[in-house]
Amino acid sequence: MMQNLRVLVVGYGAREHALVWKIAQSPLVGRIFVAPGNAGTMQIATNVDIHDEDIAGLLAFALDNRIDLTVVGPNDPLALGIVDAFSAENLPIFGPTQAAAQLESSKAFSKAFMQRHNIPTPAYATFDNYITALTYLDTLPTERVVVKVSGLGARGQGVTVCDTQAEARAALHDYLITKTLGDQQVIIEERISGRELSMFALSDGTTVVPMLPVRDHKRIGDGDTGPNTGGMGAFAPLPDVDGELLDHINATILQPTIRGMAVEGTPYVGVLYAGLMITDNGVQVLEYNCRFGNPEAEVLMSLMDSDLVAAMLACVEGDLQASDVRMSAGAAVSIVIAAPNYPAKSQAGLPIRNVYHAAVNEDVQIFHHGTACQNGQLVTSQHGRTLAVTAKGDCLCQATENAYATAAQIDFVGGHYRRDIGQQALLAI
Ligand code: GLY
Repeated sequence: MMQNLRVLVVGYGAREHALVWKIAQSPLVGRIFVAPGNAGTMQIATNVDIHDEDIAGLLAFALDNRIDLTVVGPNDPLALGIVDAFSAENLPIFGPTQAAAQLESSKAFSKAFMQRHNIPTPAYATFDNYITALTYLDTLPTERVVVKVSGLGARGQGVTVCDTQAEARAALHDYLITKTLGDQQVIIEERISGRELSMFALSDGTTVVPMLPVRDHKRIGDGDTGPNTGGMGAFAPLPDVDGELLDHINATILQPTIRGMAVEGTPYVGVLYAGLMITDNGVQVLEYNCRFGNPEAEVLMSLMDSDLVAAMLACVEGDLQASDVRMSAGAAVSIVIAAPNYPAKSQAGLPIRNVYHAAVNEDVQIFHHGTACQNGQLVTSQHGRTLAVTAKGDCLCQATENAYATAAQIDFVGGHYRRDIGQQALLAI
């Protein structure tokens, strides 16, 4: 196997910081670049000032710097075709092609795909006309629906969970008439209830290797209250997901997804993140994502025992079956510290102190998300989630204790975090 690899990671967040941290542990790697990175990634890699959607700029950098492996963190560059552009230049890159990334970038595509391949997902219909959508809404036996835009909404937007007809009508007006998220098709979906989980698997286009299920906390407030966010904390393992359920998820969702994409001529290479719900009628797919989640990646990277770079190369080379992918039997928790006002617009330039000495022991990592370095001082950037304090332990209890003890050391006026990450699981144990 090659050594001294030059790796480029695309993205700026705590997910990318966690990926860089794990990539840096690989004996295969010589140098890591991050575009654009943040104040955390610059401690362990070289930040490069190229925006994650500047595909031409990233490609030129990779060619000029003889990059051996590019790892794409966020979805937007995938949807813009970064994998196609790099592959055309024979540059190895971990992630799906633009066609395969439609699993996330087009809900109209992913819902129809699931229907074609009998993958369990809530009933739905797709519309681009407001009046037709309203007429359909009137025929439904329930007012509890989810209205979603098909394309990528601005982060955290584009999904309205409705209790009443009035809410559904308002969402349809917003998306199809006012067009607050641009020209979009809209999905009206049956609203189901149950427990959500984020399931991650690696694939080389044929073989699927499940990683772990992780549980995110989407709402801003304790007890799942307040507005939705990008994710305020995550943990694994999940006490309500045993080996039997994982086998079921693999057989009914992960394998058919990878098989279906291959059969349709758009093989899926990269990490598949299935947003699932465990319901009384079995496990259903709420959505696919074509990337690691944030803050789920921080938990996954903390719990991955084997070499991430070797596994990613195996995906790119179509050799995942022979690869060694091992996840720890321990537990990990990630707590997001958000800037004042988040999820509303946050202010850049606020000081954050005592980050570099806060970790209470070697099992804790503080991954940066919305940070920058200004005159030698760590400050907030414009991205509202600021830090992801991530700890592992033999059990969830220990991991949670380590993470919260560390978060308490960080001096960030107005910074706020949920106090109940992993709490439901701890009560269930
Ligand atoms: N934590 C949710 C996401 O990454 O989309």
